[in-house]
Amino acid sequence: MEVLFIGDVVGGPGRRGLAAAMPELRERHAPEMIVVNGENSAGGMGITEKTAKALFDAGADVITSGNHVYRHREVYGFLNRSERIVRPANYPYANPGRGYTVVEVAEKRVGVINLSGAVGLKVARSPFIEVDSILEKIECDLIIVDFHAEVTSEKVAMGWHLDGRVAAVLGTHTHVPTADARVLPQGTAFISDVGMTGSRTSVLGVKPELVLEQLITQMPVKFETAEEDVWVMGAVVTVNDAGLADAIEPVMVPAPS
Ligand SMILES: [Fe+2]
Ligand SMILES: [Fe+2]
Repeated sequence: MEVLFIGDVVGGPGRRGLAAAMPELRERHAPEMIVVNGENSAGGMGITEKTAKALFDAGADVITSGNHVYRHREVYGFLNRSERIVRPANYPYANPGRGYTVVEVAEKRVGVINLSGAVGLKVARSPFIEVDSILEKIECDLIIVDFHAEVTSEKVAMGWHLDGRVAAVLGTHTHVPTADARVLPQGTAFISDVGMTGSRTSVLGVKPELVLEQLITQMPVKFETAEEDVWVMGAVVTVNDAGLADAIEPVMVPAPS
């Protein structure tokens, strides 16, 4: 089974770029399951029911998220209702939404777990202990983990923690792709960060001149989503019948304009 995973989709440019690139990605990789990180899909920060629908329309089976998930209040009800969107599992239990889900795709029960790193990000519980307790109770044929985390050390450590226990550990959040995609010895596909889906004429999706103004003046600056030169970034994981990975291939393609 081919699983296509797409990194943080940033704003309208990211959403439109993903939709435009999808026919080519489908032809090239024939994915049976598509997971999209949507935490920046609404105006560059957060997600709404409307932007989630746009990602589902583009082909997402499941949407993952991260630290910006609660930016827009209007999405809270949708997070509670929909079994196809997840937020980090190691947030407070009472928060809106769920931390993992199981969906049936191509006659397989696919588990998707969303975790937040604890280094430099606010969490309620350790992602390592949290994922152990989820793996004890989740019932499915294969598992994809979106590890939304800041630092490569914590992400690489999670790869080793889950090697042989899940099909893939795919990093998100930094918006910058890393060159370390590989299948670990026990059969788990790993990459520290798949990168983002959005404008490359940007700083992590934001217009460069605005980020520079803030960094240089140290004054508050209203950020705007950049629009030029949109690229789609992610990874394709080939999962075998044992629920482990045979291969991982990074995806980095310009969106057709
Ligand atoms: Fe992000
Ligand atoms: Fe993030």
